[in-house]
Amino acid sequence: MPVGSDGPGTAGDSAEGDSSASSGSSSTPAPEGSSGGTSTGGFDTVLGKLIVHRGLATSEDLDVAKTLLRESIQSDEPRTLADVLIEHHFLTSRQLDRLKNEFEAKRTTEQIPGYKMKKRIGSGAMATVFLARQLSLDRLVAIKVLPKRLSVNANFIERFYKEGRAAAQLNHPNIVSAYDVGKAGEHHYFVMEYVDGETVYDRIVKMRRLPERDAIEIVMQVAKALQHAHQRGFIHRDIKPKNIMISRGGAVKLADLGLARALADKEAAVAEAGRAYGTPYYISPEQIRGEVHIGPAADIYGLGATFYHMTTGQVPFEGKNPSAVMHKHLKAELIPPDHLNPELSAGCAQVIEMMMAKSVKDRYERVADLIDDLRLIRGGQPPLFASSALDLSQIPPTGPAEPGPPATAAVPAAGTGIDVRLFMIALVVMILSLLANLVLLVVVLG
Ligand SMILES: Nc1ncnc2c1ncn2[C@@H]1O[C@H](COP(=O)(O)OP(=O)(O)OP(=O)(O)O)[C@@H](O)[C@H]1O
Ligand SMILES: [Mg+2]
Repeated sequence: MPVGSDGPGTAGDSAEGDSSASSGSSSTPAPEGSSGGTSTGGFDTVLGKLIVHRGLATSEDLDVAKTLLRESIQSDEPRTLADVLIEHHFLTSRQLDRLKNEFEAKRTTEQIPGYKMKKRIGSGAMATVFLARQLSLDRLVAIKVLPKRLSVNANFIERFYKEGRAAAQLNHPNIVSAYDVGKAGEHHYFVMEYVDGETVYDRIVKMRRLPERDAIEIVMQVAKALQHAHQRGFIHRDIKPKNIMISRGGAVKLADLGLARALADKEAAVAEAGRAYGTPYYISPEQIRGEVHIGPAADIYGLGATFYHMTTGQVPFEGKNPSAVMHKHLKAELIPPDHLNPELSAGCAQVIEMMMAKSVKDRYERVADLIDDLRLIRGGQPPLFASSALDLSQIPPTGPAEPGPPATAAVPAAGTGIDVRLFMIALVVMILSLLANLVLLVVVLG
């Protein structure tokens, strides 16, 4: 699995080209794509245009598919264009699902009273995000539209609204503000502050590694957002580069607060697991274990994994599938970040390692402590909490010593016979030298 990918759920992102799908492409029916097969509510009519527009297939591919489609219409079993594209491997079913979701979501967004949809900004494993104008306040907003399939779980929907309303109470410069939640047609949506900029994920893709100073600044701003949220009882649960936005002016904004809890809870997510849920590169061990109490430390771990990715250019643990990655979060030793990036300061590496400690008790207890350490390393000083944690872990345990390799002569262990003998010799030499001095004194004076 490629580093930096968010896993199977987001595969094909680059090919689809996030912002290229402006509203025009899917709202105008395109006769050439329409089929004589099963009605797909208008989707099939724009599908042909859409896949060429997104670079998922060439117009030559489309011509071939349309010929096959015409042949199928004359047969006993008429197919839709979508069927033909999948059956002849022009498109994967995942790509088709994604396009269908976006198409439906866009149609829904056009129907949200009070908002004028402008374009699709991007999509993740669970939803599609659009840029829109809120007519009453004449401001740009981002609207996240959930796919229809999530609407069937009443539990999830209830939590989605509850968390959405609660998240709207959060007010912090480093948090993407939540404005509204609602339902249009069969789709639930979430209206939030629009951040004109890019995600940390985009930046990593562009730069591979971020300079230490920039990474510390980003982590500092997210830590401040988390401190605000944690003090009000919110745990984000899904801290990752794609949920951290950087505005054109350089402000760092944490997105999706309040959403992750609803998503984490839903049965639908279990059903989706492996299909659409992103690969867990940043998830904490306690979340993997399914612990009931998930506290601030889980967010600190996710932020630590993000910090690791920003400074080393690699995710902390890789694996061929989500469960392999999760297993490593639980069991595998972390390659120290300064081994991958030798330019990283020791202090920064220590902070990252403490943020990513597998056990909650070895991690920063509170974001406030992390912020203190970030201030220190930003000023070129050693961290306080991370250093002392490291020192403590290096103190040998008391009690009977474990059998181990014999101490070498060059580094004698404290309190050995060699030490005692050296001490006795030094003492005898000192006494002899004292006696010699006394004799000399007596001779001189006498
Ligand atoms: N408030 C916002 N302002 C501007 N762009 C946004 C905003 N929220 C999300 N986006 C863009 O939309 C994309 C999709 O967001 P979404 O939260 O649906 O998925 P994700 O966080 O990228 O991934 P996942 O599905 O794994 O959570 C983001 O990657 C980002 O580029
Ligand atoms: Mg997101």
